[in-house]
Amino acid sequence: MSWTFDEAAYRRRTAWFQAARFGLFLHWGLYAIPARGEWVRNNEHIPKEAYDPLLREFNPTACDMRAWARMAKDAGMQYAVLTAKHHDGFCLFDSALTDFKSTNSLAGRDFVREFLDACREAGLRTGLYYSLIDWHHPDYPHQGDRTHPMCGNPDYPDDGRDFNRYLEYLHGQVRELCTNYGQLDILWFDFSHDHLRGPAWKGEELMQMVRSLQPDVVTNNRLEVSGEGFGSMATGHPTPYHGDFITPEQFVPPRGLQDISGKPLVWEACITMNNHWGYCARDHFYKPAPLLVRKLVECVSKGGNMLLNVGPDARGRFPEQSQAILREIGRWMEKNRDSILGCGPAPYPKPEYGRYTQRGDKLYVHILENTLGPVPLTGIPADSIQRIRLLPDGSEVPLSRSWVHADWPDLAFADLGENPVLPDPVDTVLEVTLKSHSEAMK
Ligand code: GLC
Repeated sequence: MSWTFDEAAYRRRTAWFQAARFGLFLHWGLYAIPARGEWVRNNEHIPKEAYDPLLREFNPTACDMRAWARMAKDAGMQYAVLTAKHHDGFCLFDSALTDFKSTNSLAGRDFVREFLDACREAGLRTGLYYSLIDWHHPDYPHQGDRTHPMCGNPDYPDDGRDFNRYLEYLHGQVRELCTNYGQLDILWFDFSHDHLRGPAWKGEELMQMVRSLQPDVVTNNRLEVSGEGFGSMATGHPTPYHGDFITPEQFVPPRGLQDISGKPLVWEACITMNNHWGYCARDHFYKPAPLLVRKLVECVSKGGNMLLNVGPDARGRFPEQSQAILREIGRWMEKNRDSILGCGPAPYPKPEYGRYTQRGDKLYVHILENTLGPVPLTGIPADSIQRIRLLPDGSEVPLSRSWVHADWPDLAFADLGENPVLPDPVDTVLEVTLKSHSEAMK
């Protein structure tokens, strides 16, 4: 039977994802022991023989997935995605297809199961990241993939490697994840490049299997592309392995993402807190929490999600800096979550002092820098405003009647009072309730 794109099913299964807006990305595995990031095997050309023994050492006794889920929840996150297998091939789940897995490590634990149980208990939607690339599997191309740690090393030729046998392994593991761990909300594949895209992964067959086992799971676009490239959803001609959302990486797109006909696309920007996905002990270059709050607001104002990453250490703990950032984001979200969750772009031009997000008749004005005097509600017709409140405490914010803006009668201005300092230096949010069209026309 030939495949056809089911737009209604696509919109139905991505609805929760678009409303969720904010998730936690978790990169964790053996690479936490070298503590130089998840690409350490590639960056330092470490042969398998030198890397595999880490399996016998891996025993993150401090790993408490309930604590992980609680930190995500308290930060206002609505979903969490864990690396079930990264490029190094190490599996955090009890796969019957390999011995290179956490249940064979000193820990002897199925961390994927612990993660999913803890997240579901905390009320978080759950996702699993699965690397298409596998530097451990003997049938994965060593010379035929420029990302392989042994690429360029003549001692590791590709003679005898059977890529179809690797694909059986890849499909078999995805089948295990889709069969043995309950309902998954997100499958986060990573990543396609060069000739290794779509059909090369037997993408149509893979997605048929995924859809048969997890019909509502939301998938990303990396069976086709990576953090660069949008994939076939943007062309208006989705392939059977199109993916449901676009995945800009370490970057917020200059504007919302649309397909060739101008229809908005579902997208999620994945962002690290420092400069590494996996734990990197020397990388102290963390983004300040206020910056990350403002990037979250920017993503939502452009119709996207933000997936913010933490790389737990080899003991199973979040780095202290990551914990502090999550707590600070959580303090802002606790008071302003209504301006993020379920929101999207507003049909008005961006105000020069901040951003707009909207959900139904609630328009949220994110004031990111002081205005001198009353705040111009750029583009919002004065007669469409029913009331304005300061979101965190619900206090009334009157429309300004000041003479200073008398020359702009068609513009509405909010009066924040005599204090020139904004209530929240990170992002002061006003909730504007708009009149329905009929009320506005009275
Ligand atoms: C890139 C990196 C990979 C990381 C991913 C997260 O693909 O290669 O290490 O997991 O980005 O988006």
